[in-house]
Amino acid sequence: MNKKIYKRVTVKSLQEMKDNNEKISMLTSYDFTSAGIVDKAGIDVILVGDSASNIMAGHETTLPITLDQMIYHASSVIRGVERALVVVDLPFGTYQSDSQAALESAIRIMKESGSHAVKLEGGKQIKDSIKRIIKAGIPVMGHLGLTPQSIYKFGTYTVRAKEEKEAKQLIEDAHLLEKIGCFAIVLEKVPSKLAKKVAKEISIPIIGIGAGSHVDGQVLVLHDLVGMTKEFNPRFLRRYMNLHDDMINAISNFSDDIKSGSFPNENEQY
Ligand code: KIV
Repeated sequence: MNKKIYKRVTVKSLQEMKDNNEKISMLTSYDFTSAGIVDKAGIDVILVGDSASNIMAGHETTLPITLDQMIYHASSVIRGVERALVVVDLPFGTYQSDSQAALESAIRIMKESGSHAVKLEGGKQIKDSIKRIIKAGIPVMGHLGLTPQSIYKFGTYTVRAKEEKEAKQLIEDAHLLEKIGCFAIVLEKVPSKLAKKVAKEISIPIIGIGAGSHVDGQVLVLHDLVGMTKEFNPRFLRRYMNLHDDMINAISNFSDDIKSGSFPNENEQY
């Protein structure tokens, strides 16, 4: 079958991709310039992840980033994107208290950034919030497995749902998210066998990060993929560039050229 060309990716296109066994590509972006590059490269979904808290702001966890900061990142991203579906993380503390707060946070993101969907971490404990957001016409992506906003509950970033009890709960949560109307689920750092079972049982797209190859799509953090980050080296990460070292080389060459007086040359001035 010929691969369908999507001029604009929508939640409907993602479902068609799953139904046609076409894998979905997803990558983070937090700013206008990188979002334009990611979009031109043909990535289907751009995630304005709360990993911006680590990558952009240098925090140890995703917890400190605020709704205003996420809206700033998301509105910068949206200005650079023509094709991809843009999904924005609801940050920690903006949806866990009650469904009214969750709805208000999601509405602010959609209205003030122009993004296309939101993502929330968790299963049955946040089901009322998800239901209410979806009822307002806002598409919701779920997020199960390793949920970094709960890091202090678990105490570690190791693989989740290795034990039967946690795996059973995760499967139940995935069914619940599908039933209440999520359009896709991110499955983070769980055994590949479990992820395969979830992707088979659940009809909506399952997008993995550290969840093996038997899911409907893959997501990574842009800065990890291009090698701008250096210390973060989980097994699931494939680096396609070593931008960290390349940038240091380029910048130190620039510095040397200034010091030696070779920059700017005759052609680089007015
Ligand atoms: O915030 C983020 O970047 C994420 C991805 C790791 C899925 O949630």
